[in-house]
Amino acid sequence: MISKQQIDEIKYRNDIEDVISQYVTLKRAGSNTNGLCPFHSEKTPSFTVYKSSQSFYCFGCGAGGDVITFIMKAENLDYRDALEFLAKRAGITLLENERDKEEGVRRTRVLEMNREAAKFFHENLKNNPDALKYAASRGLDGATVKHFGIGYAPESFGALTDHMHKLGYTDEELKTAFLAGISQKTGRAYDYFRKRLMFPIINTSGEVIAFGGRITDNTKPKYINTSDTPAFKKSKNLFALNFARSYCAQEMILCEGYMDVVALHAAGFQNAVATLGTALTSEQARLLKKYTKRVIISYDSDEAGQAAADRAFTLLGEAGLETRILRMEGAKDPDEYIKKFGKEAFRKLIEGGVTRFDYKFDVIIKENDIATTEGRIKAASLAALEISKTPSNVEREIYINKAADKLKISADSLKRDVNKIISSRSRKNQKEQTQKIILDTQGYADRVNPDRIKNLKANSAEEMILGIMLRFHEYITGVNSGKFNLSADDFVSEFSKRVFVAITEGAEDFDIGMLNEKFTEAEMARIVKMQIAREGLTVSDKIFADSIDTLKDAGKKETLSIADIINKKRNQFNNKS
Ligand code: CTP
Ligand code: MN
Repeated sequence: MISKQQIDEIKYRNDIEDVISQYVTLKRAGSNTNGLCPFHSEKTPSFTVYKSSQSFYCFGCGAGGDVITFIMKAENLDYRDALEFLAKRAGITLLENERDKEEGVRRTRVLEMNREAAKFFHENLKNNPDALKYAASRGLDGATVKHFGIGYAPESFGALTDHMHKLGYTDEELKTAFLAGISQKTGRAYDYFRKRLMFPIINTSGEVIAFGGRITDNTKPKYINTSDTPAFKKSKNLFALNFARSYCAQEMILCEGYMDVVALHAAGFQNAVATLGTALTSEQARLLKKYTKRVIISYDSDEAGQAAADRAFTLLGEAGLETRILRMEGAKDPDEYIKKFGKEAFRKLIEGGVTRFDYKFDVIIKENDIATTEGRIKAASLAALEISKTPSNVEREIYINKAADKLKISADSLKRDVNKIISSRSRKNQKEQTQKIILDTQGYADRVNPDRIKNLKANSAEEMILGIMLRFHEYITGVNSGKFNLSADDFVSEFSKRVFVAITEGAEDFDIGMLNEKFTEAEMARIVKMQIAREGLTVSDKIFADSIDTLKDAGKKETLSIADIINKKRNQFNNKS
C-alpha cells in the first residue's frame, strides 16, 4: 500500500475537476459540474463531478469513484499504475513501501525470466531444422522471425527449466512466470511450453510480458498462452501493439490470431493487433481507443469468428471507436487470405470494409431471393429491423435509401416501417425500464450488495452511516474512539461490513482513494453513491447516533429469505401493472 500522506498529496495536486476536464467537457451546474459520460455512450449528460467531495458519479451507467478510480478506468490502469500516472502528472515522485517493493521485485523478476526464456526459445529455433521447417511452411521468413522474436520451445519436459536453473531461477519463480508447472508426483518443475512455436508478447515499454505457443503438429491444445502473472494481465494487453502503435494514427486492424498478425505485418500492415487467446474485452477496446480512431475487425470468416466479430463490434462502439467489419471470402482467416490472394487483394478488402448494416444487409440479400415478391418482403422487413438498430438519423437515412434502392421499394414506406419498429421498441424499453427501476429499488439484481434486499431498513441505515463516515471523517474518528457505539458486527450486509472495516481499520489515516485497491469498480461506484447521497446534507451527532439505533433495531428483525421476498414483490408488481 502507498501511504495515506502520498495519496493525500497526489489527490491534493490532482483536483478531480482539472483531471476529468481533460477527458470530458464539463459544464458548471451549481457547485458541481457535469458532462457526457466517457464510460458509456449518451446524448444528455448524466455524469457529475462533485468538487467538494472530489468524486464523480454517472447516473446513466452507475460508474463512480474518486480521481484515482477515474484514471483507472479512463487510462485502463490498475490502482498502482493509476497512482503513478497521477503522481507523474503532478510532478510527485512516489516512495515505495516494503510491500510495493516486493511486488515490484516479483514483477521485475518475471520480466527478466521472460526475456531469458525468449532468448532461449529464439536460439532454439535457429538451431532446430524441424522447427525451422515448420516456420517456413507457415510462411515465416527470417526477417519476420527476427522482427517478432519468434522462437521454439523444444519437445522436452526440462529444456527451459534446466536452462533457467542455471541462471539462478527457482522452480517457484518459474511457476509464477507461467513458464513451468510443478509436478504433483515428483514435486519437480516441468516446462509448460513444449514443441511449440513461441510468440513473445511485448508491451509498449518493450518488455516481454507473456508468450503464446503454437504446437508444430496436430496435437491439442493448438495454443498455450501465459495466464495472468505479476507482470501480465491478458485482458489488458494486445499482441503486437508494441509495433502497431506507431502505424495506427488512422485505423487499426483487429485479428483473432497471432499468425494473422504476423502475416499482416510481414505484408506491410503493421497496424494489426490481436487479442491473446480470449474474446475482446472492454479494457482492450479502451486500450485501442488510446491509439486510434477506427478499428477494422478482421476475424475468421467462419460462424464462430463472425459471432465474435459481432460482439467486438458492440464493445468497440461503446469505447467510442468507429468500427468496420471486413468481408473475407475464399479464405478462413487473414493469414490464409494473404497467402492465397496477396497483399493488394487484402488492401482492397480493407478499403471495402463495411459498416455493420452493410455487412448484415449483404447477408440478408444472400439469404433471400429478392427476385421473388416473397423474398423482397422478407428482406425488406429484416433490413428495417437492422436499420432500426442504428442510432444516427443520418446513417439511418443513408441505409434506408440504399436498401430501398436495392429492393426496388419506396424509401418512404421502408422509413415508416423502420420508425414503427423504433417506436414500439422504445415503448417496450420504457415498460422494461419502469419494471427494472421498481425491481432495482427493491434491490433485485444487486450484484454489489446482494444482501440489501433481505433487510431494506437495516440497509438504508447502513448506507446512511457509511455515507456520513465517508463524507465527514470526524465520524470515523468518533467510531474508532468509542464515542459512538458501533462495530462491524452491527452491520447486516456483508458488503456494508467490508466497507465499514476498510474505513475504520486505517483509523485517522483514511481517504476514499485507498479503497480503490480493495474494491472493484462496481463496488467503488456504490461507495461513492453512498457518499454523494449525503452531499449538501446537514449532519449532526444525533442524526448519526439515530441511524446507528435504527440499524441495530432493524438488524434484530428476522430477515426474509430471497425466495420469500421475490414472491412478495412479484405479487405486488403484478397487482400494480
Ligand atoms: N487460441 C487459443 N487456444 C486454442 C486455439 C486458439 O488460445 N486452443 C487463440 C490463439 O490466440 C489463436 C487464436 O485463438 O491465435 C485464433 O485461433 P485459430 O483461428 O484456431 O488459430 P490461428 O491463429 O488461425 O492459428 P493457425 O493458423 O496456426 O491455425
Ligand atoms: Mn490461421
